[in-house]
Amino acid sequence: MSEKSGIRIRIGLALLACALAILGFVFPSIQAAEPSRESLAAEYLKEVRPLFQGYCWRCHNSQKHQADVDLNSFTSLADISKAPRTWQKVLEMLESRQMPPKIAKQPNDSERDRLRLWVRSFLKTEARAQAGDPGPVVLRRLSNAEYTYTVRDLTGVVDLQPARQFPTDGAAGEGFTNAGQALVMSSALLTKYLDAGKEIAAHAVLLPDGLRFSSKTTRRDCTNEILDQIRGIYRQYTDARGKHARQLARHCLRHQ
Ligand code: HEC
Repeated sequence: MSEKSGIRIRIGLALLACALAILGFVFPSIQAAEPSRESLAAEYLKEVRPLFQGYCWRCHNSQKHQADVDLNSFTSLADISKAPRTWQKVLEMLESRQMPPKIAKQPNDSERDRLRLWVRSFLKTEARAQAGDPGPVVLRRLSNAEYTYTVRDLTGVVDLQPARQFPTDGAAGEGFTNAGQALVMSSALLTKYLDAGKEIAAHAVLLPDGLRFSSKTTRRDCTNEILDQIRGIYRQYTDARGKHARQLARHCLRHQ
């Protein structure tokens, strides 16, 4: 190969790489081609709904709706969008081959794939469309753990357990104990909050310029706690016979 043609090939490759990079940059949608809602809607009416009719409606219609699933009622994509949970179950049933039940007429493999892939595309498109939407945000109380840690942070008393007498937080359907809908308030719980508040207040120590919190609750224990802290400072700078007092003087000067 002559040197000239070598250079030409290298320049050609560089241009090609540039072109690919630009294409990838300008048309990212080429890589992630996803069906539009229009095409999903059209496919549903033309191909998918008739398959559901053939294999599922017998047991899932308005009169006979096994497991509360009426597949006949979904006449358009808009209807389907309103019930994503049902359609997640439909996908699960199709993928695990639990539906149609063994005793019923079975779709062949390509028909099952058609149903499965359509439902999956629909759910994916729907998830993308709703991405970033946290759903309705409800006003809620803190979970027991959140309440406990908040009180500990605010008071600085790490062994407080104000939620000790509260009923355990129930896990909502998703299994999380901090789901807003599950964190309800009742009059019984409100009374317990009041008791917890009193217990926390018992740890408050009034000072001339405000208040602080102590891990103790009696005046005598609080005083001893402070005295212990003061003795601790002295202990660092003195030995048993009271020597090294100069170091303490230096410490005091530094912390003035
Ligand atoms: C012969 C009747 C029959 C046919 C046909 C049938 N199903 Fe079902 N389906 C049932 C019954 C019965 C249940 C309730 C099963 C249970 O509770 O264990 C059910 C439950 C379901 C559920 C709810 C599952 C759950 O966990 O809540 C879905 C979704 C479902 N079917 C989808 C389908 C789909 C999709 C088809 C067609 C491909 C289909 N079914 C065909 C009888 C049928």
